[in-house]
Amino acid sequence: MKLLITGASGLLGINLALEAMDEHEVIGMDRGRLKSAPFRVIRFDFLQSNEIASLLDDAKPDWLVNCAAMANLDECEKHPDQARRLNADFPAELAKACAERNIKLVHLSTDAVFDGTKEGAYSEEDVPNPQSIYAQTKFEGERAVQAVNPQAIIARVNFYGWSLGGQRSLGEFFVNNLSEGRKVFGFTDVVFCPMWVNHLAQTLLAMLEKDLHGLYHVVGAQPMNKYQFGVEVARKFGLKESLIEPQSVERSGLTAKRSHNLWLSVHKLSTDLERPLPEFSTGLDGFYAQFQQGYPQKIRSYQQPVDKP
Ligand SMILES: NC(=O)c1ccc[n+]([C@@H]2O[C@H](COP(=O)([O-])OP(=O)(O)OC[C@H]3O[C@@H](n4cnc5c(N)ncnc54)[C@H](OP(=O)(O)O)[C@@H]3O)[C@@H](O)[C@H]2O)c1
Repeated sequence: MKLLITGASGLLGINLALEAMDEHEVIGMDRGRLKSAPFRVIRFDFLQSNEIASLLDDAKPDWLVNCAAMANLDECEKHPDQARRLNADFPAELAKACAERNIKLVHLSTDAVFDGTKEGAYSEEDVPNPQSIYAQTKFEGERAVQAVNPQAIIARVNFYGWSLGGQRSLGEFFVNNLSEGRKVFGFTDVVFCPMWVNHLAQTLLAMLEKDLHGLYHVVGAQPMNKYQFGVEVARKFGLKESLIEPQSVERSGLTAKRSHNLWLSVHKLSTDLERPLPEFSTGLDGFYAQFQQGYPQKIRSYQQPVDKP
């Protein structure tokens, strides 16, 4: 299949592209961060161009995975108009253009659409109540995509892995800081379901192959708090877990409001895929194996060097 990936320089985009290229023809869309990537790259900035329809006519993909977003919560609070453009308006345009061309779309959303006040796991039936500009604009994006393209897959995710800049994921945060002997905080009151990005990439491809459509929770099967996640990473990498100080997110000083419980049920997805989702420990093993094999350096070598002033 021909797979077009927006946001190909991002944490999910680059890992999905590398994961998919063995079996599929991959084209990545990027606004200038990638160099010498092992797949075809098309330059495109969604804030500066509205030529998406003609780009799709030229590229003619079978599948499109929309990984482009303004995904930094605190940046979204500072730039709400840009956040809305990238997280809601643009996905709607893309979804319409895909529907008109029979291109199967996966649109990425977030666990953060929920306010985190529920006891237990959220299902796809639960009603979102976004608490930040990021979450609000992502929720608007979900609804806009669903309205114009009912065949699209909307995947609410949360994942970790190795990124182009080496600092995008929570896994990298713990590895980088603990390796340098730096103390960090681990939030004990934010529960989430982290999934290794390669498992996410494989799962999205399996969903496309099965021609699923509609809203899905695509997260790890095991809920844990962020402190526990840090401890698991530290143990796997042989780093000092005592450097991680348990703390409440309420004392973090972060700008955007964070929800406390982002435990999402994956029952619908595992039922429709007819298999359980991968275990957390398998994902962590994969993340560590990549580290041992020099995968972080390989990913970073695809990044355009940043000009120093
Ligand atoms: N990471 C997580 O755990 C997590 C959790 C929940 C939901 N999600 C969702 O999953 C998706 C992928 O997230 P991610 O972590 O991979 O995000 P990311 O690493 O921040 O990547 C975002 C991508 O969007 C691109 N982008 C930003 N502005 C653009 C513009 N104006 N034109 C074209 N491209 C633009 C970025 O390009 P540059 O590299 O040039 O900036 C980058 O490639 C997003 O929809 C996000 O909301 C992620």
